[in-house]
Amino acid sequence: MKIRAAVLEEFGQPLAVQEVELAEPRAGEVLVRLVACGVCHTDLYTASGADPSGYAPAVLGHEGAGVVESVGADVTSLVPGDHVVTLFSPQCGECVHCVDPRTNLCLAIREQQNQGLLPDGSTRISRGGEDIRHFMGCSTFAEYTVMPEIALTKVNPEAPFEHVCLFACGLSTGLGAAINTAAVAPGSTCVVFGAGMVGLGAVAGCRLQGAERVVCVDLSPERLELARGQGATDLLVADEHTVERILEMTGGFGADYTFEATGNVAVMRQAVEAARMGWGLCTVAGVAGRGETLDVVPRFLITGRRVAGSSFGGVKGRDQVPILVERAMAGEIDVAPFISHHLSLDEVNRGFELMEAQDGIRSVIEFG
Ligand SMILES: NC(=O)c1ccc[n+]([C@@H]2O[C@H](COP(=O)([O-])OP(=O)(O)OC[C@H]3O[C@@H](n4cnc5c(N)ncnc54)[C@H](O)[C@@H]3O)[C@@H](O)[C@H]2O)c1
Ligand SMILES: [Zn+2]
Ligand SMILES: [Zn+2]
Repeated sequence: MKIRAAVLEEFGQPLAVQEVELAEPRAGEVLVRLVACGVCHTDLYTASGADPSGYAPAVLGHEGAGVVESVGADVTSLVPGDHVVTLFSPQCGECVHCVDPRTNLCLAIREQQNQGLLPDGSTRISRGGEDIRHFMGCSTFAEYTVMPEIALTKVNPEAPFEHVCLFACGLSTGLGAAINTAAVAPGSTCVVFGAGMVGLGAVAGCRLQGAERVVCVDLSPERLELARGQGATDLLVADEHTVERILEMTGGFGADYTFEATGNVAVMRQAVEAARMGWGLCTVAGVAGRGETLDVVPRFLITGRRVAGSSFGGVKGRDQVPILVERAMAGEIDVAPFISHHLSLDEVNRGFELMEAQDGIRSVIEFG
């Protein structure tokens, strides 16, 4: 079928919205009609050419929500009409990681997905006989996409699409960092560095876990106000004394849990140093630049601090994203303040400009 999609033709150039060909879903695959899709830093990172593993031409986008149109052979868990969220981090349910509660890093289709291919090693998107790759296994800057069944999760059809698409990446990452990776204990003190989509999700996750105190640190006072809305009890505008100020606020000890959601390795170090001696756990969610390393004085570890990394918040997508969506519908997570701009597919490059200008938390593309 002919669809409109935003194609990354050349790194560093705007995406080109155009007509491309989308083939029918094969065995284990599903055709999805997109309704809403967030514009995320990872899309921009790849489009800019900064990501060394990027590939082109490709249809970008990975924060999608939509409706199942049709299913290929052997698809058993989804039927046409189901409302789904796309998962760049799939859940096959069978691999050695899926059956272990300690990780969400499904191994089933990693290699093909990293190359922009569907699990059988081919693409469904093309243009005049030329293959176009599937970004992060999703390619949701498009009216329709074909994805593996294991990379789609069914959600409550009453949830608004513009809200549920945010659970496809940043929001689940932040919530999960607090709920799964750190498993924040009730009554704790938490510090979240960064008040973007991921950091704000972490603030909300700490609150849901029953933290007593949630300090949020950011450079932007406007973003810190959003953190207050998600449950932050203390707001700190970052400066060169951030760690000392956190130690002062916590009786000289530091926080039970710290979270890094900036992607800046200097901030990661601050997050380690602001964690409490004895048992403080620092969870790193930010993605650092190519070749950058995290500098930690080993004494911080010997005296009982721990460092954990978190991909997609440790969320096993097919099982847990629907639960997070239910919690939002029950009023436990306030999603609306994250959506700052509504765009059409043709305005996708404007979404990148808004992100570069730090204008709002998320732009959401609406289709149709
Ligand atoms: N682990 C994962 O699975 C995953 C998923 C999505 C995004 N990410 C990563 O998480 C990070 C955050 O993503 P986002 O969408 O929230 O980004 P964002 O740019 O919207 O937010 C980052 C925030 O950090 C703040 N910041 C920058 N320097 C700071 C400093 N020195 N001290 C305190 N705050 C500072 C900025 O003001 C901004 O508000 C990025 O690195 C992104 O790539 C990781
Ligand atoms: Zn993302
Ligand atoms: Zn798996």
